Amino acid sequence: MTTASYEADPANVHRVLLLYSGGLDTSVMLKWIQEQYQADVVALTVDLGQPGEDYVVVRAKAIELGAVDALVVDAREEFAREFVARAIKANAIYGLGYPLFTALGRPLIARKAVEAAREANCDTVAHGCTGKGNDQVRIEATIATLAPELKVIAPVRSWQMGREEEIAYARVRGIKVRGGSEIVPYSIDDNLWGRSSEGRWIEELDHAPEDDVFQLVTRPEEAPDEAETVTVSFEGGLPVALNDDPLGLVELLERAGEIGARHGVGIVDHIEDRVVGLKVRDIYEVPAAAIVLTAHAELERLVGTIHQNQLKPMLDQRWAYLVYAGLWLEPLRTDLDAYMDAVNEQVTGKIGLKLYKGSARVVTRSSPNAVYDPQLATFESGGLFSQAASPGFIELWSLQSRMAWRMRDRG
Ligand code: ARG
Repeated sequence: MTTASYEADPANVHRVLLLYSGGLDTSVMLKWIQEQYQADVVALTVDLGQPGEDYVVVRAKAIELGAVDALVVDAREEFAREFVARAIKANAIYGLGYPLFTALGRPLIARKAVEAAREANCDTVAHGCTGKGNDQVRIEATIATLAPELKVIAPVRSWQMGREEEIAYARVRGIKVRGGSEIVPYSIDDNLWGRSSEGRWIEELDHAPEDDVFQLVTRPEEAPDEAETVTVSFEGGLPVALNDDPLGLVELLERAGEIGARHGVGIVDHIEDRVVGLKVRDIYEVPAAAIVLTAHAELERLVGTIHQNQLKPMLDQRWAYLVYAGLWLEPLRTDLDAYMDAVNEQVTGKIGLKLYKGSARVVTRSSPNAVYDPQLATFESGGLFSQAASPGFIELWSLQSRMAWRMRDRG
């Protein structure tokens, strides 16, 4: 029995494109699908800049577990240019500090799965999401939109094996468990825009972060005693240079991530409202975003008028929620992007940030498009601003408020 139109009828599962990470769930799945459906499995691993991943090893493991083919696609450029670039223009933050790295990656992973499934003549796409998270929404919504002919299976959602049973299943079938089977690992997801950890003590809200969760960002107390200033230059809303060094986007994000990580920047301990109703806690390490988004938002405010600056955060928030909630392909997102692009045409200039033991603070700004004139703003008397005009402005500006106050008999 299936609930949704895009779920596979087991009788029709013959050739499966499996989104494969090399971890326990998807490795068990690779075997389980072959056994359960007598189906061929083509494994696909998508490189979005996960630090330290060895794709030769991942690929070999898939073949060893019986995949008829194991593909690795390097999607870092596409991820940076089509997804992270849009997120930067939209200052994309969900809640109080989640820069959406996972949420941005899923629609691209799903698109790659559709392309590979069609290429390899698969009838079904399999992924390793549980039934409790946002990722199932993002992946399945995207596949169902792009490829109505493809069906989806999500074995972890239905097989009802716990970690112990999965390890037992793996052991019987000679599947190696990374990091051994004794320690329960954090649930990690990462790419070049950030890293999340979930599970274990993170689920206890009054449990302060243990040191071992931080595998990307240096703990602030261990960061250098010397502050470092980094400048980020933007053209049309996108970062183009770090410390005046022109860089392609992927390299720039990686470099910003390294500098931020060294200074303990971008640690976020976040309680989050998931789209499926749950409230959960994540520990995020987002050093690149902490630098680039902070700089972008600062520059955007400098070149925008008061009216643009009041509207933009509201649209940014809408954008972030659509993407968080799995609706990358929703037309409202592209509509909003048209506005983001228009505003960002002016976002050219350079922002300097001082990094010190976990903080990234803007210290310098410059832009040819700044709506700022030191002649007008100065405290020195004179200049172009007519102070004599101010009383007339205040008279009319406050007119309705004064009338209302008087009518309500408070005056
Ligand atoms: N809470 C974040 C999100 O919903 C991170 C999810 C991480 N995903 C994972 N499969 N571990 O986007």
